[in-house]
Amino acid sequence: MIALRCSECDVVHDDVDALACGDCGELLAFELDAGTIDPDAVDANARRRRASLDPRDRSGVWRFRELLPPVDADAITTLREGDVPLLDAPRGAAFAGVDRLAYLHLGMNPTASFKDAGMTVAISHARERGARVAVCASTGNTAASMAAYAARAGMSAVVLAPVGGISPAKVAQTLDYGAHVIGVEGDFDDALRAVRALDPATVAVVNSVNPYRIEGQKTAALVLLEQREWRAPDWVMLPGGNLGNASALGKGFREARAIGLAERIPRLAVVQAAGAAPFARAWRENAELVSVRAETDASAIRIGAPASWKKARAEVRASAGTVLDVTDAEIAEARAVIGRDGVGCEPASAASLAGLRALVADGSVARDADVVCVLTGHVLKDTAYAARYHASDAPHANAIVRGIDLVEYLNLLLLTRA
Ligand code: F0G
Repeated sequence: MIALRCSECDVVHDDVDALACGDCGELLAFELDAGTIDPDAVDANARRRRASLDPRDRSGVWRFRELLPPVDADAITTLREGDVPLLDAPRGAAFAGVDRLAYLHLGMNPTASFKDAGMTVAISHARERGARVAVCASTGNTAASMAAYAARAGMSAVVLAPVGGISPAKVAQTLDYGAHVIGVEGDFDDALRAVRALDPATVAVVNSVNPYRIEGQKTAALVLLEQREWRAPDWVMLPGGNLGNASALGKGFREARAIGLAERIPRLAVVQAAGAAPFARAWRENAELVSVRAETDASAIRIGAPASWKKARAEVRASAGTVLDVTDAEIAEARAVIGRDGVGCEPASAASLAGLRALVADGSVARDADVVCVLTGHVLKDTAYAARYHASDAPHANAIVRGIDLVEYLNLLLLTRA
């Protein structure tokens, strides 16, 4: 029903721990036999399970388990991830220049990023296989997510993170869950290279090169579609770093259509930060990806050699989508607007809205298009960035009232704000 294949040369693999094709070295991917799946049963099961008390059923990932690689029920490690809201975004819509917009906020997951949907599957599989240690390279969110799920599974966790390339909030969160954090003198790409050289039969490597991660993350597409009665939007905008998530969402939408849950798929627009945009460049030039030394304030997507770029390219092509990049200043502006919608997100997430604004401005996305921006991480993931952003607003944030009547001051202030 679901087979592990090479994503490039199509060879079928029976080693469930493998991370790369033994024949051509490319990434592996699960392939669903859509013909064996009844869409009405998937929809009905997913709805019914929401009301159940079984922990698997209460997960927005595992309630779609007919579409996932099989994992023994006893091994399933869940924190009730997956079911995140689709929120109206009136200020974001006005900023981007579209009539209406919604945010799919994957930062509302248990460790506050989209990684949890993938991590529950990767760690559950590793636990079923008897792994004792999980390891990853990370700009912070994979680290926190792995640390939490490994802790729940009784496994130890080791993180390789670029020194200075990960927000202090994410380091603290990861340490709280008990992981061992190693600072790497280099960038994310150096850290990932080291992790990929490990033997996956002895440690669980849980970066998105692990196909179980992708299977979990694809359920975000189902959670999005389900909240729209399985009607796909015209466009889905998402930030791109290592490009696992673009691969996963694209796969989720394609499978939803193949099964008959959705009639069509949305066009995917992957948005990179200008200083970390090798995929956007390869797309524009219709060329192979050339790695770069990445530099951007959006530290989560400071990645110059994205591992999943071929998978992501296939998904963007299959959806008639596009890839672009936006500057750090555009990301900062968009992030502030998302905050004003009462939602908020970390810097990398706001690339989605900044990218939408650019595509509307150049006519690629119509004003009346039906668009969803994917927000990948919570506003509290990078409080240092937010504090820097607001430093110039300090008079509001730090007004100290001395020597005048506080009630009088408040009345005046409220009058000007009404
Ligand atoms: N947004 C956030 C908040 C992220 O943390 C990441 C990646 C991305 C977007 C990009 O997703 O890599 O699948 O294209 N963070 C990874 C990490 C690299 O280590 O937490 P991608």
